[in-house]
Order: sequence, then C-alpha cells, then structure tokens
Amino acid sequence: MALVKFGAADSLPRGAMRELRHGEEEIVVCNVDGTIHALENRCPHSRGPLAQGALHGKMIVCPWHAWEFDATTGECDFNPAVCLRRFNVHLEAGQVFIEV
Ligand code: FES
Repeated sequence: MALVKFGAADSLPRGAMRELRHGEEEIVVCNVDGTIHALENRCPHSRGPLAQGALHGKMIVCPWHAWEFDATTGECDFNPAVCLRRFNVHLEAGQVFIEV
C-alpha cells in the first residue's frame, strides 16, 4: 500500500472530477458536496474513462454509454452488484492523499 499525493483539496471544487494515475492504477477523484472520494476510473461496462464523464450530485456518469455510479459507494444505479472499487482518502494539512 502507498499513499499517493493528489494535491490540494481546494484544487478540486465541489462537483468536479479529475483523474489520478499511479503505476497501473487509474483513479477518478471527485468532490461530492465537499467530501473527496476516489474510485477506479475504468467503467465495468466497456472500460470507459469515468473522469471524462460528468458528476451529477453524487452520481458519476460514464461518458461512453451513460451508466451511473454512486461516488460514495461505488454502486451502479441499476445493479448494485456492479460496483467500482473504492480507495481510501486521507486529508493532511489541506492536501489529499489516496491509499493505493
Ligand atoms: S463504458 Fe461505461 S457505460 Fe459503457
């Protein structure tokens, strides 16, 4: 396990998403109502890049075929068994670190 620095928490405004890469890992980092969440960036449907989609409230919308995932749980809206892997997020002195 490694703590990967994402950057300043205030560099990611509410409702924004950004991709973070660390080795083989592609992570989507998003700000839902002031709380930072980190999940796998590749959609389980056909590996669409979720960080290039939209964030509607707490729902991440895949840019390719519009599947939606709850950023707080990783669950797909129509089938909770289809779930994005989540990463623990740490805040230290205003900086965001992702546990990879
Ligand atoms: S690749 Fe995400 S919905 Fe198809």
